[in-house]
Amino acid sequence: MDRCNKLVDVGRRQFLRGGAVAAAGMATSVALPAQAQTKAAPGLALVEYPSNKLANVADLKANESLDVSYPDENAPGVLLKLGTKVEGGAGPDGDIVGFSTTCPHKGFPLNYNADDHSFNCPGHYSRFDAEAGGQEIWWQSTADLPQYALRIDTKGDIYAEGLDELLYGRLSNVL
Ligand code: FES
Repeated sequence: MDRCNKLVDVGRRQFLRGGAVAAAGMATSVALPAQAQTKAAPGLALVEYPSNKLANVADLKANESLDVSYPDENAPGVLLKLGTKVEGGAGPDGDIVGFSTTCPHKGFPLNYNADDHSFNCPGHYSRFDAEAGGQEIWWQSTADLPQYALRIDTKGDIYAEGLDELLYGRLSNVL
């Protein structure tokens, strides 16, 4: 009986030791992903946009779209001088904007309607507001229209330096 009690005691000690090792292991496994995330996060989010000269302010006519492309030649878009200060607008009057003209729903080319400053899709009729950062205002796209981040230098040259939404059909805006 005494031998039996000793075996039970040894069993308890081994159980407790095993529990301590398991707890230490869990603490390590919880800590490691956090460290790994800290190191990995910047790489996943990093997109280096080119700074591309698209036009000069003098090239723009009020409320007429000027065809451009950004961030590469396979990404059509337009520049617009809307005539009133708007969200994301650049230039001295805050009224110059740029957008992709590929519909974020299924990639149809959009048409600009100067009457109400909207982009209209002939595919499934989504509409996007150029005065409100490309916000969808009608139908079935689940994303807004990608808008350019614009910079205008002292000579009036207009540069695109980023996009605020993912371009249709891409896993990354910059290929
Ligand atoms: Fe534009 Fe479907 S492709 S709404």
